[in-house]
Amino acid sequence: MKNRVTKAIFPVAGMGTRFLPATKSIPKEILTLVDRPLIQYAIDEARAAGITDFIFVTARGKYALEDYFDRAPELESALRRAGKDELLETLRTTNMESGAIAYIRQHRALGLGHAVWCARRLIGDEPFAVMLPDDVIAAETPCLAQMVEAHAEVGGCMVAAMEVPADRASAYGILDAGAEKGPLIQARGMVEKPRLGEAPSNLAVIGRYILTPEVLGNLSRIKPSAGDELQLTDAIAMEIEAGRPVHGFRFRGERFDCGSKAGYLQATVAFALSRPDLRDEFAGFLDGLNGFRAAAQ
Ligand code: UTP
Repeated sequence: MKNRVTKAIFPVAGMGTRFLPATKSIPKEILTLVDRPLIQYAIDEARAAGITDFIFVTARGKYALEDYFDRAPELESALRRAGKDELLETLRTTNMESGAIAYIRQHRALGLGHAVWCARRLIGDEPFAVMLPDDVIAAETPCLAQMVEAHAEVGGCMVAAMEVPADRASAYGILDAGAEKGPLIQARGMVEKPRLGEAPSNLAVIGRYILTPEVLGNLSRIKPSAGDELQLTDAIAMEIEAGRPVHGFRFRGERFDCGSKAGYLQATVAFALSRPDLRDEFAGFLDGLNGFRAAAQ
């Protein structure tokens, strides 16, 4: 059994420009799917995978995230007085044990690789997870838990992977895919945002990673690449070049790109339809819309 994964880095220092003006004053991770912010879905997934240490890489204007995980004494006592135990229980899922959560500032948005590097002093000599909260994955067994289980067998670095259409490959980190064994794909290389027609495969890296501490050393040596940013992909690719194992992992589940407006809206509909308290009313509304559209055509 390889080292257990207990620490996760949540890079949330990006500017979220695709959601302006909303993200002028609200961090993207606080946008809600039904009634829970994106960050809550990521935290629940991390907890289900056995993560006990949560490291947030934040930036200016992200106070709402820190407040979200804090106690809310007035609200809690008002709910207690009103006997609203269910809501109190819901609030409890937002609380963190003292010392379980750390916030590191990324002073300039120099890229995802740089954001992860900013947390280097909080990672010891063990593998750690990186989770991008704007990738929301609906799955029976949460995605990171699937990966932690597979990682215990093979070690090294592991990235969540899924197939994307060829004309979308230039929006992702793409694997040069080698031998496959079950859900594991041996990575022969990785390239961030390849030019149209130059992608080595159609397997894209999604925002869940299990990385070795060596990647942090690589991050201090990489140069800006795609988008003139310091890319995490390049530091992982250095592991492959050094002959150490890097695997893609085909997760079971549906991923929503909540960093894009269309993906966020799709997730809202899918999550609303999966909620027993909303399903019937919402499905009825959608049926009505379809009828409306058909009539208009
Ligand atoms: P994105 O590429 O989605 O960028 O970052 P963004 O700034 O969040 O959003 P847009 O594209 O401007 O709309 C992917 C992840 O990496 C983090 C982001 O917070 C997000 O979780 N990130 C990116 C950082 O923490 N720091 C950076 O310098 C860049």
